[in-house]
Amino acid sequence: NTEAVQALEFPIPAGVYAERVVSVKHYTDRLFSFRITRPQSFRFRSGEFVMIGLPNAEKPVFRAYSIASPNWDEEVEFFSIKVPDGPLTQHLQKIQPGDTVLMRQKSTGTLVNDALTPGKRLYMISTGTGIAPFASLMRDPETYDKFEQVILTHTCRDVAELRYGEELIETTREDPLIGELTEGRLHYFASTTREPSPHTGRITTLIENGELFKALGTEPLDPATDRVMICGSMNMLKDVKALAEKAGLKEGSNAEPADFVVERAFVG
Ligand code: A2P
Repeated sequence: NTEAVQALEFPIPAGVYAERVVSVKHYTDRLFSFRITRPQSFRFRSGEFVMIGLPNAEKPVFRAYSIASPNWDEEVEFFSIKVPDGPLTQHLQKIQPGDTVLMRQKSTGTLVNDALTPGKRLYMISTGTGIAPFASLMRDPETYDKFEQVILTHTCRDVAELRYGEELIETTREDPLIGELTEGRLHYFASTTREPSPHTGRITTLIENGELFKALGTEPLDPATDRVMICGSMNMLKDVKALAEKAGLKEGSNAEPADFVVERAFVG
C-alpha cells in the first residue's frame, strides 16, 4: 500500500481491522451509505453483520452493522442512520474518503440463506436501514440458486428514504456479474408511511389487506412455497413475525433451518 498511512492517535484493538473509507454517499439528513476497503482475510456470509467503530478513543464504541455488499465485492458497504447524539453515528456521519474505520474480524447473523429451507419464493421484508442485509443477499448468486423468485420490500417514512433501495435495484439489474441472473426473478416493492407514493402504508397493513401480493401477482404467504427474512425495528419485527406465524411459517436459525428468520436493524 503506497498511500500515506493515517497517523492513528490510539492503538488498534486486538481482533480488529483498520480499513480506509473509499466513498460516502448521503441520501437524506437521516441516512447515508459508505464503502471501506476489504481486508484480504475477511470472509462473511451474505446477510451477516459485523461490529464497526472509529479509532477516536482508547476504547472505541462499536455497533452492529449489517454488511450491505455481497461477499464477492472487493469493498465492504454499509447503510447507516444518522442519530444526532448517537455515540457512534454522530461521528460516523462525518467520515470522508481516506478516513479509518474499525471493523471487528468476526461476522455473524441469522439473515443467511443457510437458516432457511429451500422454497420457491424468498420475501426480504425491510424497513429503514433494515434493507442493508438484503442489499448483500440480493447480489449473491447463491440466493438465486436457492430461490426462483426473490422479492425485496422496503418501507420508509418518505420517498427520499427509498432512494438507496431504488439505486440498488437499478445497479443490480445492470451488474455484469449478477444482472442476468436476476432477470425476471428479482422483484421490488416499496411503500411509504408519511408521504404519499404509489403504495402507501406499513408493510404489515399491505400484507394483511393483500395489496403487496396483488401488486406482485403472487398469493398470500404459504409455507409450501414461501420463505421470509425480516429486518427492521423491534416493533416491526414483532408485527411481521406474527403475520408469518399466522400464515403457518416456522422460525428458523443457523442450527435449525426453517421458513422465516428475523434480525433487528441497527438503530442508533
Ligand atoms: P411509521 O411512519 O408509521 O412509523 P423508522 O425510520 O422509524 O425506523 O421507520 C421505518 C418505517 O417502518 C416507517 O415507514 C414506519 O412507519 C415503519 N414501521 C414502524 N413500526 C412498524 C411496525 N410495528 N410494523 C411495520 N412497520 C413499522
